[in-house]
Amino acid sequence: MTTTNQADLGSSMSAPNGPRRLVIVGATGMVGGYALRFALDNSAVKSVTSIGRKKIGVTHPKLEEVLHQDFADCSPLVDVLSAQDAVVYCLGTYTGSVSEEQLRVVTADYTIEFARVLHGSSPNAAFSFLSGNGADPTGRSRLAFARYKGQAEKALLEAGFPHVYIFRPAYIYPVEPRKEPNLSYQLLRAVYPVFRMLFPNQVIRADDLGRAMVDIAIGEVEPRALVLENRDISVIVESRSRYIAI
Ligand SMILES: NC(=O)c1ccc[n+]([C@@H]2O[C@H](COP(=O)([O-])OP(=O)(O)OC[C@H]3O[C@@H](n4cnc5c(N)ncnc54)[C@H](OP(=O)(O)O)[C@@H]3O)[C@@H](O)[C@H]2O)c1
Repeated sequence: MTTTNQADLGSSMSAPNGPRRLVIVGATGMVGGYALRFALDNSAVKSVTSIGRKKIGVTHPKLEEVLHQDFADCSPLVDVLSAQDAVVYCLGTYTGSVSEEQLRVVTADYTIEFARVLHGSSPNAAFSFLSGNGADPTGRSRLAFARYKGQAEKALLEAGFPHVYIFRPAYIYPVEPRKEPNLSYQLLRAVYPVFRMLFPNQVIRADDLGRAMVDIAIGEVEPRALVLENRDISVIVESRSRYIAI
């Protein structure tokens, strides 16, 4: 974790300036879907604008759904993104699901283009970004995924937003069965109970992650830039459960 005390995180996660207007990108996906559910249930969230290329199939009085096909050009989102308080960005793809060039475009270019338009429309928005374990902002990693997530992270941290939260989960456990993106994920899912016991700091549940991304974004936790590794995300999740149990 960069520059913060873990104990600070759990204690300061309520909307400090009244109910927030939140944008979720990628709510048709696994993590984005949980973020959406928690945001709609959260009284600290006044409105949710979901942006994606497909319909999410959810209606709710707090929800506005915006369909946008080409994230290489987010200019049409200028108005939708104005006067927003926070963003949870879960749009992403997997190694092997698309060509390496498309992996770069979706992982890095789309994020950077979205942040450019968001910053023009809501320069004070807080930004929670779904990155991944091993992301390398130096661009030296031999793994394409790590380089592209690192490129996106670097651009977000330099974009000028007052609060940027980079989430770097290791293995995200899909709480509900889904079509896994590749064979390694099928295997990981099968061995999850043992894997979790052996490597507790290398796993996070998809629902816990989605909720933490919302909580942090609307809570505007200090300091302004946080890189949250898997163990840091677990601390947030645990401190929230302790708080609820009291
Ligand atoms: N699973 C893990 O263990 C793990 C670990 C670390 C990091 N991650 C990262 O976490 C991120 C999200 O994971 P997830 O499992 O929630 O993904 P997911 O279920 O596949 O959802 C991905 C989301 O991104 C959208 N999307 C993908 N390609 C798009 C495109 N070309 N244009 C517009 N929207 C696009 C999808 O929209 P559609 O529904 O329209 O396709 C969907 O909303 C990924 O970047 C992944 O690499 C995963």
